Amino acid sequence: MRRPVVAGNWKMHGSRSANGALLRELEQRLNPEWPVDVVVFPPFVYLADAARTLDGGQIRLGAQDVCAEATGAFTGQVSASMLKDVGCRYVIVGHSERRRLYHEDDVLVARKFAAVLHAGLTPVLCVGETLEERENHHTESVVARQLEAVTAMNGAASFASGIVAYEPVWAIGTGRTASPQQAQAVHAYLRSRIAAQDANIAGHLRILYGGSVKGGNAAEIFSMPDVDGGLVGGASLSADEFLKICEAAAQRETVSGTVRP
Ligand code: PGA
Repeated sequence: MRRPVVAGNWKMHGSRSANGALLRELEQRLNPEWPVDVVVFPPFVYLADAARTLDGGQIRLGAQDVCAEATGAFTGQVSASMLKDVGCRYVIVGHSERRRLYHEDDVLVARKFAAVLHAGLTPVLCVGETLEERENHHTESVVARQLEAVTAMNGAASFASGIVAYEPVWAIGTGRTASPQQAQAVHAYLRSRIAAQDANIAGHLRILYGGSVKGGNAAEIFSMPDVDGGLVGGASLSADEFLKICEAAAQRETVSGTVRP
């Protein structure tokens, strides 16, 4: 049974007062009966504050990035155990903005994934192709390469405690979403790649879609059988929008009776 996840990646947005107000409103309005895991990912400096605001609530906390090293002379970096120490349970690794703007390659992302697991946290591995790669029919080879860099280093079993987010680069922050069918095709493909190594882990793996998910399109995307929720950027900064997305994920489970498979 796969419980949906809605993850709000705030990126480099927020302030102490704005974050507090947003988190309190989300906690107040989130229906505790919705069967969905809701996670927010504020910038590093606000994590401890956010953990205090969320203490005992339903929303979980995550970080947008992590250092692959455990400790030492790495100026400016933050380790997975530090993130755990301040209350994080999830960490995004390999977001396309990290890959593109900060030149993170597949091996570094796989090492970060390992560091997160080692600290006892849940990694959210982002994969996705650029528009050029899609137009050249390289979508599958790109996402397989990104996924299998992690299984090559950590084994398919590492996905027993991990989450995958398919985020086509051309859909991030552009207002352009993959169609539900495009998302489903890539999600099914990713699941099949894991299934080739371990069918049981693949069956339980939660694969989120990310890229311009909004209140108005979430239900349609989440209705796809291999889409287990969303990684939400811009729309996670609005309580109204984010709650609509959480409700859409929750209803996905209600309508189908049980979460697939
Ligand atoms: P977006 O961002 O929802 O603003 O497109 C998604 C992401 O980058 O995770």
